[in-house]
Amino acid sequence: MVSLTSDMSPLHPDRNLALELVRATEAASIRAVPFIGRGDKEAADGAAVDAMRAFFSTVNFDGTIVIGEGEKDDAPMLFNGERVGNGKGPRCDVAVDPIDGTSLTAAGRQNALSVIAVSDHGTMLDASSVFYMDKLVTGPAGVGVVDIRLPIGENIRLLAKALGKPVDEIVVSVLNRPRHEQLIADIREAGAGTRLMSDGDVAGGINAARHNARTDMCVGIGGSPEGIVTACAIKALGGHIQGVLAPRADDEKEKGRDAGLNVDGEVYEADDLVRGKNTIFVATGVTDGQLVQGVRRDGDFIYTESVVLRGASGTLRRISSEHLTSKWL
Ligand code: FBP
Repeated sequence: MVSLTSDMSPLHPDRNLALELVRATEAASIRAVPFIGRGDKEAADGAAVDAMRAFFSTVNFDGTIVIGEGEKDDAPMLFNGERVGNGKGPRCDVAVDPIDGTSLTAAGRQNALSVIAVSDHGTMLDASSVFYMDKLVTGPAGVGVVDIRLPIGENIRLLAKALGKPVDEIVVSVLNRPRHEQLIADIREAGAGTRLMSDGDVAGGINAARHNARTDMCVGIGGSPEGIVTACAIKALGGHIQGVLAPRADDEKEKGRDAGLNVDGEVYEADDLVRGKNTIFVATGVTDGQLVQGVRRDGDFIYTESVVLRGASGTLRRISSEHLTSKWL
């Protein structure tokens, strides 16, 4: 299965690109180190954005940012529509989240990640005009079993059956927000346990989809961009993801509709969020979490841990790196 262009560049995002991109999430995490636990989330994010952008220019690909730091006027870097890469490799859609969990980073709490997701050009949903998305994520056992249209209690029972375990062993992660009060009560009422996340539903979704993880399902309303990014990872894990856009007000609904989005409760299936299997998801830990250890400086060395997930091969690779501190000062 060889797919090369005349100059021998791959047509699709390939394994080399995946490994190249890790350098960018590693750099973003390393640059965030001075800001971990220092109470300034904008500074942490700014440092991660700068680092990621600098690395992009060295990577062999021709990327267009579909999910970035916002519209051009508000975000001088990594804005939606910006072309990134050296223009030589495959044409790709790119989603960046230099830090998912800026507040976690500023507080020094667990589960902040630096993330890049990539897919074939024209395959990533641009949901940027609607801020929030309701999501349902599980591992492979949930595929063809759970459905976001069903009540949460029903989904918990169906998943428990598919997993062959009692309902009281099911653990559901959900962002701890007032908007989820009823959802949390319903999960507990159904007999399952909750893992309330203070932030970071990208890590929450991936953890729920992983084999032998401590959570079985991740549900609730989080960012729409995070939904697309998560979908790129879930493709590699063979899991289930569905999303429903959740506009906050009529004007946002209108904006979404103008952008061609379904804003009236229609379900986005995994293939609507990102089409096809040629997805790459890379993440480096900023703070410690279930998925990866956070970046750590120890004298002359900086240690990072990253994961690389490829939809085409269905693999999750773990990369531990040691960086000479002197190169980063
Ligand atoms: P940021 O890093 O951009 O702050 O996002 C953190 C996050 O928790 C996401 O993981 C999640 O999707 C979203 O915020 C939830 O939004 P809100 O905090 O408004 O409920």
